[in-house]
Amino acid sequence: MPIYLFALISFVSLPFAQAESVADWLMKQKHVSLERMLQNISRPDTVPGTVVAATTRVNPNYYYHWVRDAALVVNTLLLAANDGVANDLDVRVDRILRDYTALSRRQQMTWTRSSWSGEPKFNPDGTAFEGDWGRPQIDGPPLRAMTLIRWAKQLILSGDDEYVRAVLYDSLLPTQSVIKGDLEYTAHHWFETSFDLWEEVKGRHFYTLMVSMSALNDGAELAVLLGDFGAADYYSGEARKILRFLQARLVDVAAARILATVDQDEGLTYKTSQVDIAVVLGLLHAPSREDFLRESDSFVLLSVQKTVDAFRGLYRINRERLDMAPAIGRYPEDLYGGATFDGGNPWILTTFAVAEFYYKRAHELAVLGDFSGASDAIRIGDSFAARVQIHTAADGALSEQFSRENGYMTSVENLTWSYASAITAALARDKAVAAISPSSH
Ligand code: NOJ
Ligand code: NOJ
Repeated sequence: MPIYLFALISFVSLPFAQAESVADWLMKQKHVSLERMLQNISRPDTVPGTVVAATTRVNPNYYYHWVRDAALVVNTLLLAANDGVANDLDVRVDRILRDYTALSRRQQMTWTRSSWSGEPKFNPDGTAFEGDWGRPQIDGPPLRAMTLIRWAKQLILSGDDEYVRAVLYDSLLPTQSVIKGDLEYTAHHWFETSFDLWEEVKGRHFYTLMVSMSALNDGAELAVLLGDFGAADYYSGEARKILRFLQARLVDVAAARILATVDQDEGLTYKTSQVDIAVVLGLLHAPSREDFLRESDSFVLLSVQKTVDAFRGLYRINRERLDMAPAIGRYPEDLYGGATFDGGNPWILTTFAVAEFYYKRAHELAVLGDFSGASDAIRIGDSFAARVQIHTAADGALSEQFSRENGYMTSVENLTWSYASAITAALARDKAVAAISPSSH
């Protein structure tokens, strides 16, 4: 069995052998990630509701509350609680959400170097970070709105609309509530140039526009639920404008191409390929887009495949294991290694993002009745999850990056968003599997 032998020999150069099936590993990693993610929220030396981006405090210091990371992490907590991933998670999550809401409102009302909103990160004591940074970053407010809208809808269903109307969405202008504050900000600012999610390029970005559109669609739905009909029309009208802008400027269906950024006016100049995993993240983080760019579309699949292909030959660990799915970085020209600037590495959250894309595609195909296509998509998703698996130690600790040369974890430790990405990938897999085999549930 020469292929088997080849695989065995190549394992020698990798840190950890693949001891268990991907499915089993991912299930376990989901639980470990949840515990580790919770350890980075409301830590004793931070203001309650603070989500530190990572536990590393020097070289580089990630002990800050990033608006983007925090929104994605808290959203993941809600998903995990709904799915019953751990006992008593509901109670913990409710406390965290209340603290996160209060902190978010306070930060929304803080004058910063980005004016009121759009500030990328805050100190662990809740105050504004005042050093130089790539600002503004206008994906934060819509991401936070989406997370809090998810929670608001749950509270309304469970009969607690008093808190929702008083604290989360008050239907007033000027508003005193956090969700409406973020929606108003997004509706009025989405067209401005801002720094991208990687904090490096100022322009108009697929990722930022997608999450802005999705948040405004969610916001319109919540506004209807709460009787704020004029606002609902306004939010959905702006969402439609974003859609038209995306179609006109960033999405070229004929060429199967999605651009990461247009209209750059500041930032890195060596990022020229337009290949960026931010496009996949934009699909994953913007679920409310109706029929625009569905995971099951062949155009979308082709765009994702092209992005993935750009990483195949890029890293030594990929070239050494061409039989496996490639480890995925942010974009091919990336130089950021955490403490160094001598070359980018693959990241945990981007490799999991590709797995999650295929799991979501599998779910959509299963719903459309294409069960064999769905099974294939799960297998492809698993191949990307397996890539993370072979580079992860038995304790399940996840950093931001893993070395392009030897596969070991590198850059900041315990990146909260890495844990969230493991959980959302695992939940998407569970959902796809359930849609393929309904009888087993
Ligand atoms: C820190 C940012 O968080 C990271 O995304 C970026 O690559 C570096 N600064 C360089 O701008
Ligand atoms: C750098 C990443 O590029 C950015 O997306 C993230 O928000 C920060 N690190 C904090 O994790």
